[in-house]
Amino acid sequence: MTELDIDATIAGLTLEEKASLCSGSDFWHTEGIDRADISPLLLSDGPHGLRKQATAADHVGLGESVPATCFPPAVGLGSSWNRQLVKRVGEALGAEARAAEIAVLLGPGINIKRSPLCGRNFEYFSEDPLVSGELGAALVRGIQRQGVGASVKHYAANNQETDRMRVSADVDERTLREIYLAGFERVVATAKPWTVMCSYNKINGTYASEHPWLLTTVLRDEWGFDGLVMSDWGAVNDRVAGLAAGLDLEMPSSDGVLDRDIVAAVRAGRLDETVLDVAVRRLLQLHERTRGARTEGGSYDRDEHHELSRVTARECAVLLKNDPVDGAPLLPLDPAADLPVVVIGEFARTPRYQGAGSSQVNPTRVSNALDELRTLAGSSLRIDFAPGYLIDATPDDAAAGEGLAAEATVLAAAADTVLLFLGLPPSYESEGWDRDDMDLPAEQLDLLRAVVDANPRVVVVLSNGAAVTVADWAERVPAILEGWLLGQGGGAALADLLFGVANPSGRLTETIPWRLADNPSFGNFPGEFGVVRYGEGVLVGYRSYDARDVAVAYPFGHGLSYTSFEYGPMTAIVSGSGAGAHISVSLTVTNTGKRPGQEVVQLYVGDLESSVLRPVRELRGFAKVPVDAGATAPISFTLSARDLAFWHPVLRRWVVEGGEFEIAVGASSRDIRQRAVVTVIGEPTELPLTADSTLAEWLADPTAREALESVAPSDFGPLGISAEMVKLMGSIPMIRLARFPLTPIGPDDLDPLIAKLNPSG
Ligand code: BGC
Repeated sequence: MTELDIDATIAGLTLEEKASLCSGSDFWHTEGIDRADISPLLLSDGPHGLRKQATAADHVGLGESVPATCFPPAVGLGSSWNRQLVKRVGEALGAEARAAEIAVLLGPGINIKRSPLCGRNFEYFSEDPLVSGELGAALVRGIQRQGVGASVKHYAANNQETDRMRVSADVDERTLREIYLAGFERVVATAKPWTVMCSYNKINGTYASEHPWLLTTVLRDEWGFDGLVMSDWGAVNDRVAGLAAGLDLEMPSSDGVLDRDIVAAVRAGRLDETVLDVAVRRLLQLHERTRGARTEGGSYDRDEHHELSRVTARECAVLLKNDPVDGAPLLPLDPAADLPVVVIGEFARTPRYQGAGSSQVNPTRVSNALDELRTLAGSSLRIDFAPGYLIDATPDDAAAGEGLAAEATVLAAAADTVLLFLGLPPSYESEGWDRDDMDLPAEQLDLLRAVVDANPRVVVVLSNGAAVTVADWAERVPAILEGWLLGQGGGAALADLLFGVANPSGRLTETIPWRLADNPSFGNFPGEFGVVRYGEGVLVGYRSYDARDVAVAYPFGHGLSYTSFEYGPMTAIVSGSGAGAHISVSLTVTNTGKRPGQEVVQLYVGDLESSVLRPVRELRGFAKVPVDAGATAPISFTLSARDLAFWHPVLRRWVVEGGEFEIAVGASSRDIRQRAVVTVIGEPTELPLTADSTLAEWLADPTAREALESVAPSDFGPLGISAEMVKLMGSIPMIRLARFPLTPIGPDDLDPLIAKLNPSG
């Protein structure tokens, strides 16, 4: 195949042909035009494995797809905090996509986990935009390295499934910029994805699919995105408005209905044809960018990819708790011990390793923890098993369930240690709906109580796509391994971790609250009558728990290891000022235990003197570092001005306000090991004074105060107006004060004063 001359190709297309290129030809392909050498491009889900459907296409995973490696979904991948590893997974995904002649893999999904109830949290990385953005960027780099396009989704503010195709996410600009857009900005700026997928929902009343500010002003003009924007499947409302706003490609096909709207709008003069040409140009550019992968194809080794899914999953599980019992923690288990271990829980035999919906992969194989534990156990270690419960039990199954629980409890009583596998059944969480609560199924909780009564030496192993409450039981068990959803190699990875073949190194990317009601979105999720108000503003996740000092079960960033780490003294050196400020942070981390391990060093920044509400601390850097037993690793970070800044809603730009900042390094947002306070010289943030500025604002500005005093010395002069009076009257806009009777300054005096104060404006 030869390369296309994009200009000549566009010039040679008819209006109808150009419009047709701006929508799919079917569920998964873009339109092709033979005579112009334009091939259809195949787009497939994503994000953690391919879902290339052979027949019976649909967009929520109902139809079978060709076998592919199921890597850990983002809930797991995110918990690895490992950029290099995520990039390797991206490369593997890209290789599989290439082998399947896929031009674009529909992922990663990097929406913020605003509420633990969101049915799609398993497809997202974190409640924090730095984690989502960094790991999303790593995945994009890996995929695109293979010549396959990535599609960063769902842009933007798609943080729930309830009414997802219509709901308006009502979010103030500062919150959007600092929380919900920041991850997308990072991926676009650093990894240059070839496509972005817009979300279904509205943002402040306008559909994302026709939002000019979102799709053009911010995405392209500010962040420099140079790829193609496609719709989520069925997200288009008004096609012509969408095209004008920057939505290049409608997916899937609407059988030409909306293409005809484009043609009609151009003919009627409602849409400039050059707008259509721009969208076509972007489609042809994607065509060229993916040419190599599409035409040369490739192959991959299924065994290698399965092994990669296993080693990846090892880094994704989070050891939440591992308290000593009789002087020693239960984990890791000793494979050579001469003791009976009982595995309880159907999830050990029938793993839940991915979520339902459009991301559902048909795996090449699946490992289960029970078989893998038995493989790893030495000959003297006996591993018994009891299912304990039915996954997705119905009320009709009550008697069967009780029988299973009773049998499991008997085995538990006779065992040395119990590995109790619990989790959310597939019907509890999925694309398409949100959960109502954060609880594990009642029959599993009953089983847990009975088992712990029979034998307190219990390790709980969880399988769930989003946080569950541990409030009723965490205190009663000595060890908890949060396995999230770990992909097809997850069972083997769990066995590796439980036996200490691998050392846990996953960390939470979402806080586990004690109660749902503690979550900051509570009361504002999932909204009502078509609107969801992001009332908590920038206080999302740990930003809120920490600001409100709310006790949590396990904080953001938390995760244990079988070794221990000590943080050495830290230095934080400021250079430059304002928008040119930088802070160099360095320290060391020492592995003080007996095994090699990996620590996730987290760097948080807090603005101690701010004119706006800011979170107590925000993650601004992280590094996952392997450290051998007894060894010390140097760590360094560079903070930029942006890491110190907030989005000023009136100046409408990022602003570094001068003053003291706390630089904190730790092992979670609640386990800060080193702190330093530094002073940063800020940039001017004064707003120009206007007639609508208040008396207090005028008096706070020395020049304005002097100007007022010169007009009416006795009233505004040092003795004329007391601090109490300013308190009382300070909120009156100057223009209204000037209109009051007997005020020494009249409305006509203001304009000349303002002109003097703001000579340039
Ligand atoms: C999902 C997308 C997915 C698309 C295609 C939509 O329902 O929201 O994430 O890529 O379907 O399957």
